Amino acid sequence: MKFNDLNKQYSAYQNEIDAAIQSVIKSTSFINGNEINLLESELADFSGAKHAITCSSGTDALLLSLMALNVQPADEIICPAFSFIASASMVSFYKARPVFVDVSPIDFNIDVTKIEEKITPQTKGIIAVSLYGQCADLDAINTIAKKYGLWVIEDGAQSFGAVYHGKRSCSITDIATTSFFPAKPLGCYGDGGAIFTNDSKLANKIKMLRSHGQKKRYVHKYIGINGRIDTIQAAILRVKLKYFENEIERRQQAAELYLQLLDGKLLLPEIAEGRESVWAQYTVMLENRDQLKENLTKLAIPTSIHYPIILPKQEAFQDDILKDDEFEVASLLSETVLSLPIHAFITEEEVKFVSKSLIESLHG
Ligand SMILES: Cc1ncc(COP(=O)(O)O)c(C=O)c1O
Repeated sequence: MKFNDLNKQYSAYQNEIDAAIQSVIKSTSFINGNEINLLESELADFSGAKHAITCSSGTDALLLSLMALNVQPADEIICPAFSFIASASMVSFYKARPVFVDVSPIDFNIDVTKIEEKITPQTKGIIAVSLYGQCADLDAINTIAKKYGLWVIEDGAQSFGAVYHGKRSCSITDIATTSFFPAKPLGCYGDGGAIFTNDSKLANKIKMLRSHGQKKRYVHKYIGINGRIDTIQAAILRVKLKYFENEIERRQQAAELYLQLLDGKLLLPEIAEGRESVWAQYTVMLENRDQLKENLTKLAIPTSIHYPIILPKQEAFQDDILKDDEFEVASLLSETVLSLPIHAFITEEEVKFVSKSLIESLHG
C-alpha cells in the first residue's frame, strides 16, 4: 500500500499524459507558450478567481505574492502556528515578522478568535493556510482584515478544489496561492504552483514579477525573479485537471469510509458547516501516536506526521518569537496528529485494512 499512489494515477491517464509531454517536446516551446495560457484560463475557470498565474512552486507563489504586496522589513504578518513552514518562512525571507496565532481544535486552521489580539500598528496582512484540504474560516478572516485595513492571502497549497460556502478555495481572498507538488491533490511531475486574484492590477504586477519584473522583452519595471512553471508541467496539469473533480469525489468517498469505520473510536477530522474538503490529508488525533505509527509501519501501512514541530518552536523563527507566547492547540496537535493513506485511487479494501489495523492497535 502507498501513502499516495501516483503510479495508479499515471496508469489511468498514461496515454493522454504521454501525448501531452510529447507534444511539448515536439513544439520545443519549453518555456511559456500556449499550454501555459490555456492552463491559466482553465485554472481561473475551475477556481472561480478572475486571474490564475502559474509559477515555479507553491513557495514561489507565496514569494511572488508578498513581493506584489510590497512587504517590507519589520512588517508584521499574521500566520498560523501549525502548518508547513513555507508561508511563514517567505515572510521571514523579506525580513518581515511572522506573528504566530494558535489554531482551532475543530478545523486545525488559524483560530479566528485569536487573531485580533495579535494585530499591532505594524501588522500588514494575514496569511490563512487551508490545512489538510479544508479552507480556513475565510469570511471571518476577511472581515477582520477589512476592519484593520489588512490584506489576506489564502495559502491553498493543500486545498485547491475545496469549497467554502459555495465558492472554491483560491477565489475568496485578495490573493491565494497553491502548489502543484506531485503529492498535492492536483500535482504535476515536478515543482509547480499558481497564484490567484480577482484584482487585475495585482495580477498584472505578479505576471511581471514572475519574469524579472519585465513589462516587455528586456524592459524591466520591477525587480523580480524567474518564477515560471515549465511548459511540460503545464501540459501534464491540463490533463489531470480534466479528471480533478472526479478525483476529489473519490477522495471524499475514501474519507467518508474512514469516518464510517472509525467514528467513535478515535478523534477524527471535522469539516465545518458550509465547507467541503479535498482531503489532501486524512489526519486523525491519537494519544499514543508514535507507538501506533510504529505498529502500522510493521503492517506495511505508511503514515505521516504533518507536522511534528510547531512553527514557533522551529529554530529558523527563534528571533521572531515572544517568550510568553503559548500555542496550546498547535502543541497538542504536533504531539498527536497522524495522517493515514488517502488518494483518489485508494481501494475500499485498503481503507478497511488501515481502519481495522488502527482499531486493533488501539486496543492491543
Ligand atoms: C501549506 C503549504 N504551503 C506551501 C507549500 C509549498 O509548496 P511547494 O512545495 O510547491 O513549494 C506547501 C507544500 O508542501 C504546503 O503544504
